[in-house]
Amino acid sequence: MTGPAPVSLDDFEARAQSVLPPEVWDFIAGGSGSELTLRANRQALDSVAVYPRVLGSTLRGTEASLLGTSGSMPIAVAPMAYQRLVHPAGEVAMAEAACQAGIPLMFSALSSCAIEEVARTGATIWFQLYWLQHRPKLEQLIGRAEAAGSTALVVTLDVPIMGRRLRDVRNQFALPADVVAANLTDGAASRAHLASAGESAIAAHTSELLGPSLTWPDLEWLRSRTDLPLAVKGILDPRDAARAVGIGADAVVVSNHGGRQLDGAPASITALAAVVAEVGQQCQVLLDSGIRSGTDVLRALALGASGVLIGRPLLWALAVDGAAGAAQALSLLSTELRESLILAGCADVAAARDLRTDLRSW
Ligand SMILES: Cc1cc2nc3c(=O)[nH]c(=O)nc-3n(C[C@H](O)[C@H](O)[C@H](O)COP(=O)(O)O)c2cc1C
Repeated sequence: MTGPAPVSLDDFEARAQSVLPPEVWDFIAGGSGSELTLRANRQALDSVAVYPRVLGSTLRGTEASLLGTSGSMPIAVAPMAYQRLVHPAGEVAMAEAACQAGIPLMFSALSSCAIEEVARTGATIWFQLYWLQHRPKLEQLIGRAEAAGSTALVVTLDVPIMGRRLRDVRNQFALPADVVAANLTDGAASRAHLASAGESAIAAHTSELLGPSLTWPDLEWLRSRTDLPLAVKGILDPRDAARAVGIGADAVVVSNHGGRQLDGAPASITALAAVVAEVGQQCQVLLDSGIRSGTDVLRALALGASGVLIGRPLLWALAVDGAAGAAQALSLLSTELRESLILAGCADVAAARDLRTDLRSW
C-alpha cells in the first residue's frame, strides 16, 4: 500500500473507490431503491449518545464468545458474496485476515472461493446459507459446510428476492468471467455473467437460485437437519425473532442487509432494542448494517447486542491491500473498540450493556 497508513475504516473506503472499477464500487457501496435505509443506518448510529462511567474499572480485555465461538472481540466478518470481484485471493484472503484477528468469518453461499480452500486458512467459519429452490442442492451444501468444519450455520431470511439496486440496473452489472459462485456452480458461468439491458445480472441469477417461498416449517426442517449452532440473519421485527427462537435458533442477527433489501425498512440500530427485549434472555442478538468504528460497536453493545458484523469496510480494505489490508482494518477496529471501552469505563465487553444511551440530533 502506498501513501499514509489509513487511520480509520473510512480511509479504506476512499482508497478503494480510487482503485475499483466504478461498477464494482457501485455494486458494493449501493443500496436498494432510493437508498433511504442505507443512509438511515449511518444517521441512526450517529444519533446514539453513550454515557461514559468514571472511576470504575480497568479494562480486562475485549474477548467475547459468539455462537459458542471464543473470539478476540465481539465482531465477525459479515457474509459477502463474490469477494474475488475486489481481489484475486477473495474469501481466502478475507479468512486469513479474520484468522489473524481472532474472529469468525461468515462465509457466503455465493462466495467466489471454495469452502474447502477457505477452511485451510484455519479461520473459524460460519457458513451462510441462502434458501436454494433446489432442496437436494441445499442439503448437499449443508453437508459440504459441515464436512469443511464450519462451526455454525447462518441462514439469511431477508432475501426472498434481491432488492432492486438501481446502480446495478443502470450499470447492467454482471460478473466478470473469472468470478463465479464457486460452491454452487462448480466454476461454470451462470446467469450472473449475462449482462442485459435494464437489469442486474446478479439479481436475475439470485432470483433464479433462491426460493421466494421459504416458510417457518422450512426453518424447522433446517433446525432438525443440523446440530450446529444456527443463526437467523435479516430480522427487524421482534415477532419474527421470537418465532425463530421458538424454532430453536441460537442467535438472531438484526440486519437490513446494509440497506440492500427493503428500502424504507428501519435502520438496524433502531430495530435492535425491541428485538433484545423480546429474545435477549433466550439467545444472543447480533447486529449489522452501518458499523464503521469502535464507537459504533460500543453503541450496539450498549443497546443490548452481543456482537456485530462488519460488511463493506472489510471489502474496501481487501480491495486496497488484500489480506494485509483486511487485517489492518480489523486491527484498527480492535484498537478503537479497546479505546472506546476504556473511555466508557467498562471492565469488559459485557459491562458495555449497562451503559446509558439516548438519542439526539447533536
Ligand atoms: C457486496 C455485498 C455482498 C453481500 N452478500 C451477502 C451474502 O451473500 N449473504 C448475506 O447474508 N448478506 C450479504 N450481504 C450483506 C452483509 O452480510 C451485511 O448484512 C451488510 O453488508 C452489513 O452492512 P455494512 O456493509 O454497512 O456493514 C452483502 C453485502 C454486500 C455489501
